[in-house]
Amino acid sequence: MTRIGGEDLHSYARPVEARVTHVALDLAADFEARHLSGTARLTIASEAGASHVVLDTRDLDVLGVSDAAGGALAYALGDPDPILGRALNVQLPAAGGDVIVRYRTDPNAAALQWLSPAQTAGKVHPFLFSQGEAILTRTWIPTQDSPGIRQTYEARVAVPSALSAVMSAEALTPEGVAEGTAEGGHRLFSFRLAQPIPPYLIALAVGDLGFEATGPRSGIYAEPSMLAAAAFEFANLEDMIAAAEALLGPYRWGRYDVLVLPPSFPFGGMENPRLTFATPTVVAGDRSLVSLVAHELAHSWSGNLVTNATWRDFWLNEGVTTYVESRIMEALYGAERAGILRVLAWRELHNEIQRLGGASSRDTVLHIDLEGRDPDDGATLIPYEKGAALFRAVESAVGRPAFDAYLRSYLDRHAFESITTATFLADVRAHLVRGDTALESLLQLEAWIYRPGLPDTAAVPRSAALDRVDAEAAAFAAGAAASTLKTSGWITQEWLHFLGALPAALDAARIADLDRAFGFSDRRNSEVSFAWLRLAVQHRYLPAMPAVERFLNAQGRRRFVRPLYEDLLTTDWGAAEARRIYARARPLYHAVVTSTLDPMLR
Ligand code: BES
Ligand code: ZN
Repeated sequence: MTRIGGEDLHSYARPVEARVTHVALDLAADFEARHLSGTARLTIASEAGASHVVLDTRDLDVLGVSDAAGGALAYALGDPDPILGRALNVQLPAAGGDVIVRYRTDPNAAALQWLSPAQTAGKVHPFLFSQGEAILTRTWIPTQDSPGIRQTYEARVAVPSALSAVMSAEALTPEGVAEGTAEGGHRLFSFRLAQPIPPYLIALAVGDLGFEATGPRSGIYAEPSMLAAAAFEFANLEDMIAAAEALLGPYRWGRYDVLVLPPSFPFGGMENPRLTFATPTVVAGDRSLVSLVAHELAHSWSGNLVTNATWRDFWLNEGVTTYVESRIMEALYGAERAGILRVLAWRELHNEIQRLGGASSRDTVLHIDLEGRDPDDGATLIPYEKGAALFRAVESAVGRPAFDAYLRSYLDRHAFESITTATFLADVRAHLVRGDTALESLLQLEAWIYRPGLPDTAAVPRSAALDRVDAEAAAFAAGAAASTLKTSGWITQEWLHFLGALPAALDAARIADLDRAFGFSDRRNSEVSFAWLRLAVQHRYLPAMPAVERFLNAQGRRRFVRPLYEDLLTTDWGAAEARRIYARARPLYHAVVTSTLDPMLR
């Protein structure tokens, strides 16, 4: 059977028979019970003769299904699968029309994080946010949860009066509409997104939120205590949008806002349409980590406009985006800074290939095999950095003007489509290679996409600035005192490169020398702290332990938290410390973090 958008291993839907085209949510958020409850009204396009529509659900309480007139429709839930959840098979209304599912989410719905006031920056109000990618939307919305099945959506969300709701959609009632009495009353917020999107991009956040504009079509949402710092950090949003448009064509989503989440947000960023969700750990005070926003903004084209049809094609989302992120950084901050970021990422890519078992590991293939696996298994650095390296290789083979023209035309040709790797390959061949056999063999596209490791022809990024940093790291390794190193004027990324370039064997006295000279334990840049504290733990530099504990209690970003606990656990002295710190910090962390850490630390 052929499927719209390709064969998706991670959805029960059968879109060729009946396909959801629009979702209308009517939900109330209950912070005491920790659930959303209400209805999802689904518009369905079905083949003549189709009798049922198959939806995805996971941990969802389905309370009833009806047609638009309120008549009951027969439905059945399939057996639960730990990764995929349960199919919801619904009889289609005989006379056609929408299907209305009445439901309630589980307090432990994987897509929803309900934060207590203590887990927020402001400490007074609770907070809720959703995270749909990859296949978690089915834990809060009963729909066809496949990136190949695009849907428009609208929503009405009732929240406690003191809070506001934001979504990845146009806000029709930005201030909300008060309902009920002041005591126990609520506010109703309405939203609509006219562009069809994959359901993993439907997103909601509810909390005590302030807003500050950064320009006519952009701004920052954050808890009031974070707002000024966040608005300062991302003051150049309009410039970023302009740089992206110059490369990729008009921004097609209207507004671009950034929501800075409470510290327990487990990811760096999430490209929800019109409203990127971002970790507060990039609010460094000096705008040094804004490449994260360049990345999420780039997804407005690669990912949100042209979407991976299945999670095997995830590299199409992240590879193009990582390439574009670098181009935006180059346009705004110059080739030197962009080059530095590429070299840092290249080292991370090599570390990742080692972690995955070396260059022959199947998990280093771009078009990854996910049969029987959670799509999260594919969310390594491979789709990001190997993917970006592929696009840099194509750029260098055809020249930047030809590549830029191709990239833009590719995004336009497939706008609002979900495409597979095979479709991408056919597109490059039809519109860029065009039968040029010399170019085809130079590009080695099949090797890049279907074989493990990196082709020999992959260009190694270089940075003169980081070569100088390497020289200082080498001098230190050879015995020079930290205070004699030439580090003046180093930017955050030079410090990060320095920390990563130090030799594996250093005794605690040498680590202490670095700390004394450069004050690493007292730094507040999250990336520098992360790199430094790992080094400190790996070398049993105990004076940094209070900083380790502070860092693990200050934020819950998975990329920072997990490796630090793992490092502590692999020492002969740190395991008990790790368990003690974890016991206290655990309530801060999101389920995607505790689910990996609990087996190790509880
Ligand atoms: N789309 C991803 C986040 C994601 C991927 C969530 C897979 C769930 C499953 C987002 O664009 C992203 O890549 N975020 C990165 C930061 C980015 C700057 C590389 C992150 O969260 O670490
Ligand atoms: Zn991304």
